[in-house]
Amino acid sequence: MFAVTLADDAELRPLEPWQAAEFAAHAERVRADVIDYIPWARTVVDEATARLFLRDYAEKQARDEGRVYGIWVNGVLEGGTVFRVFDAPRGVCEVGVWLDAGARGRGLVTTAVRHMIDWAFGVRGMARVEWICDPRNTASAAVAKRLGMTCEGVLRDAYVLGGERRDEQVWAVLAGEWAA
Ligand SMILES: CC(C)(COP(=O)(O)OP(=O)(O)OC[C@H]1O[C@@H](n2cnc3c(N)ncnc32)[C@H](O)[C@@H]1OP(=O)(O)O)[C@@H](O)C(=O)NCCC(=O)NCCS
Repeated sequence: MFAVTLADDAELRPLEPWQAAEFAAHAERVRADVIDYIPWARTVVDEATARLFLRDYAEKQARDEGRVYGIWVNGVLEGGTVFRVFDAPRGVCEVGVWLDAGARGRGLVTTAVRHMIDWAFGVRGMARVEWICDPRNTASAAVAKRLGMTCEGVLRDAYVLGGERRDEQVWAVLAGEWAA
């Protein structure tokens, strides 16, 4: 019902528990393309687990601690964005993204995240928006750079994904930088 236009054929909209079947089908289509970097690609394996994931975000949203949005291209769910972390008292949030391989290379994610950052700073008064990626994930780092974020460094062996200990590259933009 509420949508942000990203391109003539693409929209950003809230992604909610009632869309679990659609999200499960999308997860099936994109799994191979995102599994190296997206943790839910290993846990969302059917409609029930898709509903759990979306419920978890709905509960986070109710607590004002996170949000999830979908990107629809020609009416088909092709990707999404999250406020994985949304810490209003501290003024810090973290954005995450993914796209079906067929929807990449058009700036859809950059445009979507620009809207999210505008809202985080302009409406919610955040001080800092973070972007955290694997240093090997050059496509992800390119989005952070395109958004004008600064690479602040690498946390070594910071988490485990797929049984492998991974580094985290931390990017961020501050409210004053975004306004400028
Ligand atoms: C990260 C990911 C979403 C980036 O996708 P993407 O399509 O490169 O990102 P965008 O939608 O912002 O598009 C940028 C591309 O579109 C191009 N583009 C075209 N029009 C554009 C516009 N109006 N604005 C910005 N970029 C535009 C850019 O040049 C860029 O292409 P290039 O990399 O060939 O130079 C994608 O690689 C992905 O889903 N990866 C797997 C999951 C993942 O790693 N997620 C991040 C975890 S940290």
